[in-house]
Amino acid sequence: MAEFDLVIRGGTVVTGTDIMRCDVGIRAGRIAALADHLDAAETLDADGLLVLPGGVDTHCHLAQPWPEGGRDEESFISGSIASFAGGTTSAICFSSQFKGHPIRDTLTDYQARASSAMMDYSFHQIITDASDAVIHEEIPALIAAGIRSLKVFLTYDPLYLDDRQYLRVLSAARRHGALVTVHCENYEAIKWRSEALLAAGHTAPKYHAWSRPKIVEREATHRAIALAELVDQPIQIFHVSCPEAAEEIARAQARGVKVWAETCPQYFVLSAADMDRPGFEGAKFICSPSPRGPEEQAGLWQHIRRGTLDVVSSDHSGSSYEGNVGKRRAGSDAPFTKIPNGVPGLAARLPIIFSEGVSKGNIDVNHFVRLIATNPAKLFGLYPRKGSIAIGSDADLVLWDPTKKTTITNALMQQAIDYTPYEGLEVTGWPVATLSRGRVVMRDGKVQAEPGSGQFLARGAYDMIRPTGNLPDGFDASQYP
Ligand code: URP
Ligand code: ZN
Ligand code: ZN
Repeated sequence: MAEFDLVIRGGTVVTGTDIMRCDVGIRAGRIAALADHLDAAETLDADGLLVLPGGVDTHCHLAQPWPEGGRDEESFISGSIASFAGGTTSAICFSSQFKGHPIRDTLTDYQARASSAMMDYSFHQIITDASDAVIHEEIPALIAAGIRSLKVFLTYDPLYLDDRQYLRVLSAARRHGALVTVHCENYEAIKWRSEALLAAGHTAPKYHAWSRPKIVEREATHRAIALAELVDQPIQIFHVSCPEAAEEIARAQARGVKVWAETCPQYFVLSAADMDRPGFEGAKFICSPSPRGPEEQAGLWQHIRRGTLDVVSSDHSGSSYEGNVGKRRAGSDAPFTKIPNGVPGLAARLPIIFSEGVSKGNIDVNHFVRLIATNPAKLFGLYPRKGSIAIGSDADLVLWDPTKKTTITNALMQQAIDYTPYEGLEVTGWPVATLSRGRVVMRDGKVQAEPGSGQFLARGAYDMIRPTGNLPDGFDASQYP
């Protein structure tokens, strides 16, 4: 009997820290050997290719129900296909609570939808209503069930939490052991500016950016961190779009606060000018925070290199451009306040960050692996099962051609959403094959996997979410909810 089920032969294995020329032996879905001249009945030739850990995308909205009715268009099946096409093998998606309702009302249905996934997956639980039952019963139950991250919005009607509600969620997370992820924009400031813009007749998509300038992100980032520091609760700041917000994070990190931060591909290759394209086309680029400009893009690369921003996720969400359920839900001349937010990016994430990062000399290839796989796996309690190429880790791998030039089209994204905001973008570096737990699930762009073959990734306690113990006056207010 062959020692391995599959051997990847002749590639250059890249982890977050190392580069090695060796074969990878896979047995029972896991990495069993890293050595020269391994033998197996089946081999995959990786000559001239990089062998990377499968991408871990810790921020994507799949089949997520909306309070006003409807749900994100990307299902767990189409989302898995897009993920595999782009070299991602695990994703953390969002189970949403509706204000005034228990979490379980939406969670059970969401779990059923997710069971069709082909990639491995977990959930963040969105908390929109910090009621006593949610804080004292439902959050502990979620954590016991392996959902170790909570998501809160500091903006968006009807999702946002005020400071007191946010403090209650932070305290519950501290008591029971979970990471809190935060969407940082100032709700009242955006509302105030949006109303003024509409009153002035400024309704076109480009005014989305005007409604939420960088200062509303910087203020909310500062406040999110300050309140987390008050509670001594680890947090991750979602989708940082500008160096001004990143500076707030860097300052807190320097004084020892457990705050981490992600950014997304859209903040490196899209800009506010895209929202000013003719007619309704600007709607394709509306997401929050808004894409900024070249100066901010350069500033974000600096914060990536400094380590302020240590995860790049897709924030894949979005709505088709054509039809009447997506971007045009409120009509083709809807004011910017009625156009759904979000852009798709599951399949584009790795190619864009490799191309803009490694191919253009902003980061090295190990740093790329850390951003798209190792760091997200560590931060969300999936490491070393995910995010690494090590003995015993799941054989989630991408064979990557670092020189292949590709022009991004929506067809290549293999997603349900009918457009990509990256249409026509030229990238250098492309996935040639994707393996999920040793199964070849994508080869030369062809995705093949069984719906339901993905596994739910239950997450236990881990070190990064442990509080620091530094509390103002040493008093732990979180114990007196
Ligand atoms: O505009 C965005 N980012 N839409 C997705 C929801 C969110 O805020 O993460
Ligand atoms: Zn958000
Ligand atoms: Zn999001």
